[in-house]
Amino acid sequence: MMGGGVVGGGVVEILAKHAGVKFNRICVRDASKARDFKIPEGCEVTTNVDSLLQDDIDCVVEVAGGTTIAYDLMLRAMAAGKSVVTANKAAISLHLDELSEASTKVQAPFLYEAAVCGGIPIINTIQSGLRGDSINRIVGIMNGTTNYILSRMEKEGVQYLDVLKDAQDLGYAEADPAADVEGWDARSKLCILAKLSFGHTLDEQALYCQGLTRVSKEDFEYAAMMDSTIKLLGVTTASEEEEGGTRTVKAYLSPMLIKKSTPIASASGATNLISLNSKHIGESVYMGAGAGRWPTAQSVVADILRIGAPYSPPLGASADARFERDFESRFYLRCVMKDQIGAIARLTGLLADAGISVFSILQTPITDRNRVACAVVTDECRLSQVEGVISRLTEGIGKKTNWSKRPNRRSPRATVRDAIPCLSWLCEESPEIQKTTRLVP
Ligand SMILES: NC(=O)c1ccc[n+]([C@@H]2O[C@H](COP(=O)([O-])OP(=O)(O)OC[C@H]3O[C@@H](n4cnc5c(N)ncnc54)[C@H](OP(=O)(O)O)[C@@H]3O)[C@@H](O)[C@H]2O)c1
Repeated sequence: MMGGGVVGGGVVEILAKHAGVKFNRICVRDASKARDFKIPEGCEVTTNVDSLLQDDIDCVVEVAGGTTIAYDLMLRAMAAGKSVVTANKAAISLHLDELSEASTKVQAPFLYEAAVCGGIPIINTIQSGLRGDSINRIVGIMNGTTNYILSRMEKEGVQYLDVLKDAQDLGYAEADPAADVEGWDARSKLCILAKLSFGHTLDEQALYCQGLTRVSKEDFEYAAMMDSTIKLLGVTTASEEEEGGTRTVKAYLSPMLIKKSTPIASASGATNLISLNSKHIGESVYMGAGAGRWPTAQSVVADILRIGAPYSPPLGASADARFERDFESRFYLRCVMKDQIGAIARLTGLLADAGISVFSILQTPITDRNRVACAVVTDECRLSQVEGVISRLTEGIGKKTNWSKRPNRRSPRATVRDAIPCLSWLCEESPEIQKTTRLVP
């Protein structure tokens, strides 16, 4: 095993009760460091990564993390015909194709259940439980840290930064929280699930990805007015097969308004939840711990014990698919502007210019006439239309824009130039989701 930290220690402790598995070597960075688990009898603790490739090892368990040494070890272990088990989502999301190709070449199992949503056996569910079915949509809370932060913002009426420090003190958030709060961690998991479900490798950078940093306590007030809450969701869908057998895959990560009565809204705290829609089962929901020593180690252990089972390829059948960044949804847009006659009319005018119809406008009573917040929920439209409006709103900030010189555009004048889309936007659930779960009246 490479790594003897949070997850590695849990794996050793759980497997201490299983007679069939023997640890020969555990490779760590500092062999002299005290461990919070019992080193198995006869197991050597080393700093020599290469020693994991010796002939007395059948299976390499990689629970160190990182995308360089760990990735290199996995490739070399596979080349030597060894089974590989890992919890490393960063390496998997970057190199799933290469790793799966290397393992397929030697027909050695390559298992990574713990890499997505820690304790929820979602990869095994997709690969085994749904074999023969056709997944068309995945929606999920894929990051426990951000779900914990959003839950507390809603419950206590506080801002994101007020909760972040607590989350760090409790060990939910890293010292550098960017991967969680910007949505990159959840995006990696979304890409892995899309690959497994639709056979298409998504370019992470091409996805629309908004974390929670722009969500404020005011948004929870507006959400409550709509009997909703806010969750950071990863969503990926695949169309029916089009002509030529191609499917169109869409994927995005965004804070979303969710009706409080739904299963997704009920997942609070550091919980993860994945909702799958497949042709034969319809909607199925999987909820549980997304991280932590025991849930994550259990997923690693299940993979290790599965290695004795007959070989099956690590990826679903590959399919021709095309990625489409743009997607349809209803969008929520919160603006802060000066209290002036016609301000909201000009905002809705910009939306109308972009062909966007307004579903509702919400405004809490004014407390500061220089910073008046209002929230607009649109009817269904495309992300690109909303992005066009956002860029027109932000264009006027910090520089003088001569709106009148822009062809075919109504001059927004002072009031809208002063509008600051301080949150930008949240997506309300797509109509596809509404159809099945009736989330939106
Ligand atoms: N923690 C979770 O809840 C969780 C959930 C899902 C997935 N994961 C994934 O599981 C993996 C491990 O996470 P963790 O929380 O267990 O990390 P951790 O507690 O920091 O442990 C990492 C271990 O790897 C060892 N290590 C690091 N770099 C090494 C190197 N170059 N050579 C040899 N050993 C090295 C460290 O050795 P020393 O102890 O000597 O420093 C340590 O024992 C990561 O890929 C993570 O993304 C974790």
